Amino acid sequence: MILDGQTKVYGIFGYPVKHSKSPTFQTAAFLHLGINAVYVPFEVNPNDLEKAVESLKVLKIAGVNITIPHKENVINYVNELSEEVKIIKAANTIKNIDGYLIAYNTDWIGFVEGLKELEPNLEDKRVLVIGAGGSSRAVVYGLLRENVDKIYLANRTLPKVYNLIQEYKSHFRIIDKIITPISLQDIEGFLNNVDIIVNTTSVGLNDEDFPLFDYSLLKDSHIVVDIIYKETKLLKVAKEKGCKHQNGFPMLIYQGAKSFEIWTGQKAPVEIMKKSLNLE
Ligand code: ATR
Repeated sequence: MILDGQTKVYGIFGYPVKHSKSPTFQTAAFLHLGINAVYVPFEVNPNDLEKAVESLKVLKIAGVNITIPHKENVINYVNELSEEVKIIKAANTIKNIDGYLIAYNTDWIGFVEGLKELEPNLEDKRVLVIGAGGSSRAVVYGLLRENVDKIYLANRTLPKVYNLIQEYKSHFRIIDKIITPISLQDIEGFLNNVDIIVNTTSVGLNDEDFPLFDYSLLKDSHIVVDIIYKETKLLKVAKEKGCKHQNGFPMLIYQGAKSFEIWTGQKAPVEIMKKSLNLE
């Protein structure tokens, strides 16, 4: 690839950002389609986020992804929020149109597209979602958009679940009928009621983490997604049981693919992006 005076710059704001895989697969996509652009990591200290977002205008950076811990705060510094960002209250993508910054959230669609690799028809499915933080808000938004039948939303801190339901109410009218809040202790009693199980918490990141529930109760008919980027204990047991299962990489690729499409207007070469991470 030859860089020149017209090379567009894209990137990712995170803290830390060293381990991000986005530069690898976004660059692979630009190269594959012959787009004159680069995608670089920017380590942005939380105290500097506002300045970093302003700098997008000064430096005419065409677009960035936003990752932990900036996804919530960044919405204070852009010119416009897309509809899904207003609801989810977190953004992972900014597009810079001549100095006018629009924030998007593509995590929800990344999650849905990834899950559809395991189960194309989400309508009428019953889902257990564990966690009620930022990732969970995107996952739940995606599931509601796909018209699932039921969401059992489990979290260590139950007020967060009530809060999410309250905030989503004006956008999804029958949400009270769809989402049932449950405590972590009650998960085992609901396993037979669900088709899909999604972990959005950080539990499992370390192998010593205490399990969220007794994983030996999984059945082979369960579809299990853990949005952590590795084979967690939960996924290991799901594999042993013969469940369809998935870690966080499909969601990562598809959220990035959607960001790519927002920025370039071109269809993202998803298979190429996956291949660049050795996921195929
Ligand atoms: P993210 O943006 O990745 O979702 P977050 O907003 O900090 O991160 O949310 C983290 C989620 O993991 C929350 O649901 C959190 O539970 P609480 O709301 O009770 O804090 C959950 N979580 C983190 N550590 C946990 C643990 N040890 N046991 C159970 N849940 C945990």
